[in-house]
Amino acid sequence: IPVDPFDLVIFGGTGDLARRKILPGLFRRFLAGQMPPSSRIIGAARSDMDAEGYRGMIREAIAEFGGDERDQSDQIEAFLTRLEYVAIDAMGDGGWADLAELMQRDVVRAFYFSVAPSLFGALAERLHVHKIAGPQARIVVEKPFGRDLDTARELNQTLAEHFDESQIYRIDHYLGKETVQNLMAVRFGNMLFEPLWNNHYVDHIQITVAETVGVGGRGSYYDKSGAMRDMVQNHLMQLLCLIAMEPPSRFEADALRDEKLKVIRALEPVAPHHIVRGQYEARGDEPSYREDAENPKSFTESFIAMKCHIANWRWAGVPFYLRTGKKLRARSSEIAVVYKDLGHSIFEGDEARHRNILSIRLQPNEGIDMQVTIKEPGPGGMRLVDVPLDLTFAEALGESGHEISDAYERLIMDVIRGNQTLFMRGDEVEAAWRWTDPLIEGWEARNDVPKLYEPGSSGPEDALMLMHRDGRRWREIK
Ligand code: BG6
Repeated sequence: IPVDPFDLVIFGGTGDLARRKILPGLFRRFLAGQMPPSSRIIGAARSDMDAEGYRGMIREAIAEFGGDERDQSDQIEAFLTRLEYVAIDAMGDGGWADLAELMQRDVVRAFYFSVAPSLFGALAERLHVHKIAGPQARIVVEKPFGRDLDTARELNQTLAEHFDESQIYRIDHYLGKETVQNLMAVRFGNMLFEPLWNNHYVDHIQITVAETVGVGGRGSYYDKSGAMRDMVQNHLMQLLCLIAMEPPSRFEADALRDEKLKVIRALEPVAPHHIVRGQYEARGDEPSYREDAENPKSFTESFIAMKCHIANWRWAGVPFYLRTGKKLRARSSEIAVVYKDLGHSIFEGDEARHRNILSIRLQPNEGIDMQVTIKEPGPGGMRLVDVPLDLTFAEALGESGHEISDAYERLIMDVIRGNQTLFMRGDEVEAAWRWTDPLIEGWEARNDVPKLYEPGSSGPEDALMLMHRDGRRWREIK
């Protein structure tokens, strides 16, 4: 879908996120012909450089992080001509007049706050004072959106002083992942799934976001955060909402966000014995979590598994098992909807023990498959096997399936289009903290010590027990 001409200002335009994700993503949109000719990207940061200097920096960033597109040097040069740069002092007045001067045009204006949250207020205020933003402007903010309910509220209030909620785009890049959106298409675009999407047919749901990377390099941020704040409060919570929400009346931002909010509000508090926190050990020359975090006494979790319940009619009695962690066996994220056993099986013994599982793979191998039971081919009698009915996009959709675009580029284009459907509303973020805060306070008050786990494993033993106790099993991380 084409977008209108725009000026996108990236505060923190020389930072890590801008160089790794935002600019390479925008370059891919440029290649796809989705950047109208008069559109510009304006880097704004403290460093004293000019537009040429900035273009050089982004040329290097694309070479380093640009994927397959990095070889298209003519196109890269054409893209770089769209870049401008303003040296700006977020806390003072330096550079703001220059930015105001650049922003005289009548096009869509978006401001990406790719900076520490402590600067959000100052940026919002200066955009207002220098009359750069205007009532049509959009601002994009990144996580961490607060570290608890109070700080999230403060941030929301700060932004609300100068911007209406309809102008604020809170990014959760998990919502931009291809399969996450496809989950909604599958759920709400087919007759097959929705009638079975409830506690009559679903035994439980598993959400796993496993990573192989450690926290090396971001240890000082991560150690104050941990897996709960870094991943569960936002990414896993959003996945849970999309799986569990009631069908919105329309595929439209507020209709969808209203339904997600109801799910968060219906989440029950989690009992301490339904939470397992873990920390990775050292392996060979690889440092332990505590070494990575440079905090020998850290009790921060690099892994968490928990069993949650949603107190409403649809999901009463259906556990949602969530887990996420660093340095696990594989990079693999999946949502699995595990259906109940048949009420009665006409087959005997082992042949009777088969279940349907709908698995939604976020990464890698984005796709959705449904495990169904069929007869094993051949003359060996009535032996049943489980096979996946595979909807892997690359195969099902032919060539276009290979072009699964990165979450950031999709979301940024949604900002330009003015579509908030895949962005979190302020009340959602606050509700998520309202649920997580007491859990965190609980383990802090108990001085809970995370269980150690081996890098390359599936996390601590206790996490396996969390399901075994219920007669269930985690899906393999592979
Ligand atoms: C970020 C977290 O939000 O998501 C990181 O801060 C994590 O700790 C990352 O590694 C995972 O994102 P992705 O897209 O690689 O699954």
